[in-house]
Amino acid sequence: MATGEARPGTARSGSQPRERLEETMRSRLGRECVYVPSCRFGLYAALRHWCPPGGRVLMSPVNDDVIFFVVLAAGLRPVQAPLNPLDASIDVDAVPEEVWGSLSAVLTTNLYGNPDPAPRLRERCDALGIPLFEDAAHAIGSEVGGRPVGTWGDASVFSLSKHVGAKAGGILAVADPGLREALAKSCDDLLLPRRTTAEVAYAVRPYAEAAVRGLRLRRAAWATLRLLGRTEREGIRMPLRPGELARAVASAPDLEAHDPWVRVDMHDYRLRSGRFRLGRVGRRLDRLDDVLAGCRAGTELLLSTRWAHPAGGGRPDGTQPLFRVPLFVADRDAAIAALARRGIVVGYLYDPPLDDYAGAEFTDLSPSPEGARWFARHALPVDPLRARAVVRVLEESGALPARAPEGAGPSRG
Ligand SMILES: Cc1ncc(COP(=O)(O)O)c(C=O)c1O
Repeated sequence: MATGEARPGTARSGSQPRERLEETMRSRLGRECVYVPSCRFGLYAALRHWCPPGGRVLMSPVNDDVIFFVVLAAGLRPVQAPLNPLDASIDVDAVPEEVWGSLSAVLTTNLYGNPDPAPRLRERCDALGIPLFEDAAHAIGSEVGGRPVGTWGDASVFSLSKHVGAKAGGILAVADPGLREALAKSCDDLLLPRRTTAEVAYAVRPYAEAAVRGLRLRRAAWATLRLLGRTEREGIRMPLRPGELARAVASAPDLEAHDPWVRVDMHDYRLRSGRFRLGRVGRRLDRLDDVLAGCRAGTELLLSTRWAHPAGGGRPDGTQPLFRVPLFVADRDAAIAALARRGIVVGYLYDPPLDDYAGAEFTDLSPSPEGARWFARHALPVDPLRARAVVRVLEESGALPARAPEGAGPSRG
């Protein structure tokens, strides 16, 4: 273990907050780690390090649009992969040979913590001599092929805003320990200076949110979030603004030019973190195992319901995903409305798939888009920590399970 005497998953006390964070993740993954202000920033740095501009990156069309814009910002062409409709993992066998031959990298998503088939992707990438990147934003605690997600790629990126709920922070982990210093330096060069106003906003945000929630001032809550730069989406996908995007793409690689798209939901994504922020992220990360244990219990419950397995059967890979569990309901809008009436907000919807959203001007379209479309339209991502309440609402509202598309198997291929 890289951290010597440190207990697995925790860091030695007494070190600086930033080093503590890196040590904690290093001991979880057994890989060298660089703390970054966000997962998207870490991914940008990794893409810039490994992929010369003009390259083509295979990625999942069921993903946060922010990640799509990071790929564009790095001067790369997104190539949308066919997906398994039941868990939105990349369907390796459905990627045409000519597409494999055209790629300069593969980027996994591990949506909601459901792993992509990393061992097979690793083999493919090795055979082609191209890097594999793992987006593990949703997947701390997930495993595939007997190893943690995030230990298969040349580089992997984690979002500490998600499970850890720190609303800031990320980790860039690298397979080759010899690259750590170079990547840390590239990240450092890309960071913008810390802003006191941003640190203060970060410090007070949980209290402001709790206060408006406590008073049930929903409109005020939204206004507050808007002020804090958290809501720029009217719908699930942010407005594409194709004319402006085309101009930004023409100047790529260029993070600055893509900032209006990349910063959505997190304006601090490339700001140097202050001590307060690092301290809070660190304290949250120290509680990760407890959070994951709670998630595991909720995931077990959700996977036992009739909405979990539209094609019948179970899953071969144990109790995961842990970030959100996609349930499949026939009328998702009705289920979302029923949950909203009980104060449960459904987030992390990625509909439509990125190729339907952005079109052929900005991405290669998936050669078989049906799986992604079916998943994007039907998946109802449920926070396992709210499993009981959600199951109660779905039962009471009479939500029917969705029927799997023709030919979809009971487990990931
Ligand atoms: C799959 C996925 N990857 C990456 C990110 C970006 O994470 P961060 O907000 O830490 O940049 C998100 C954000 O929601 C995400 O859903």
